[in-house]
Amino acid sequence: MLAGRRVVLGVTGGVAAYKAAYLARRLIERGAVVRVVMTESATKFVGPHTFAAITGSRPVVDLFDAEDVSPHTTFGRWADAVVVAPATAATLARLANGLSDDSVSATVLATAAPVVIAPAMHTEMWQHPATVANVERLESFGYHIVSPEAGALAGGDTGLGRLADPDRIADAVAAVLPGGPLTGVEVLITAGGTREPIDRVRYLGNHSSGKMGNAIAAAAARRGANVTLVTAGPGIEHPRVTIIPVDTAAEMADAAWAIAKKAEVAVMAAAVADFRPAEALDGKLRRADGPPTIDLEPTPDVLGGIAEMSPRPFLVGFAAETGALDEAIAKARRKGVDLLVANDVTAPGSGFGTETNQVTIVLPDGSTEPWSLMPKTEVAERLWDRIAELRKREGTST
Ligand SMILES: Cc1cc2nc3c(=O)[nH]c(=O)nc-3n(C[C@H](O)[C@H](O)[C@H](O)COP(=O)(O)O)c2cc1C
Repeated sequence: MLAGRRVVLGVTGGVAAYKAAYLARRLIERGAVVRVVMTESATKFVGPHTFAAITGSRPVVDLFDAEDVSPHTTFGRWADAVVVAPATAATLARLANGLSDDSVSATVLATAAPVVIAPAMHTEMWQHPATVANVERLESFGYHIVSPEAGALAGGDTGLGRLADPDRIADAVAAVLPGGPLTGVEVLITAGGTREPIDRVRYLGNHSSGKMGNAIAAAAARRGANVTLVTAGPGIEHPRVTIIPVDTAAEMADAAWAIAKKAEVAVMAAAVADFRPAEALDGKLRRADGPPTIDLEPTPDVLGGIAEMSPRPFLVGFAAETGALDEAIAKARRKGVDLLVANDVTAPGSGFGTETNQVTIVLPDGSTEPWSLMPKTEVAERLWDRIAELRKREGTST
């Protein structure tokens, strides 16, 4: 989604400024045309010539000493997106207050394009109430903040405040630009493993990490979809992903069924409990009382509930099997899905918690397409390609 897009990269004066050179390169590798504006402080950390060599164009540092008589307004109008990385605490404060006394803040103030801001600073600076308030203010302007990560900081310190990985920042820039094949498409995704309470401290659960569902959500958002991720797992940060956290199958059903009414595509990647304790104990089961008998009752069928809707979204189910996939093929027919992703969770490199997956696509007519072992991120991309083909065949545009 960055091919041919015009990105202004604002670099400010933190140690992470050297990483902005890598970000510029990654944006260009993805097809973007990049122009750089830098604060005076930024030039103390990385030289303008580095950016000139990478982008093929001299960065603007001094607003009054550029070839263009008004570089900030030229860049502001030219940009499809503006990204400030790294953004210092000082720059956050300037932007939050509408100041425009350097080339970066002036460009941000002069643009109507989407703005992505990736702060980087010591933990104390990041957590200072002034910075917290400034970030909130910037979010209220509609700017997208790529929050810093935890890790090694300048001066041998460690903590929260390290500039986000340049690829994450490039993803965020791509995400704020409209124009992907799923632009405007409402997508529902479920992820993670539900937890059914036994008592106040214990639950019946499963090993699902939510990684597959998260990868599918990220891939859909990258393609322009508006994603609602109903998850019993950790979730992801993305400007076009709304997270609805849930614990139990019943909560997941309530949330998913409500969203499914307006969704065009629903991908049900969560590992949902089929049964739950009929009654969860209010307190805590005690060893001294001996082994309990726990009566189970069925949970709501989240996937089945959506399959019965009319009209219903294009429906993708997941089936985690242990061994042969015959039951998955039967499930595809029984559940009335448009596509079922089956995997043998006992196979090496497949299933819960792994970074890779080996899945078999099952279609409603019982035909199967085994895919090779690949990263979950790639399974997600290929799944969206396959969904697009099937929807096109059905006469839907994306
Ligand atoms: C060695 C050194 C490293 C610094 N690193 C950071 C940093 O990572 N983040 C930050 O917000 N400020 C950092 N500062 C402070 C900023 O450089 C300072 O606030 C400066 O005025 C920021 O200007 P700018 O926002 O116009 O680029 C650092 C200062 C020094 C001397």
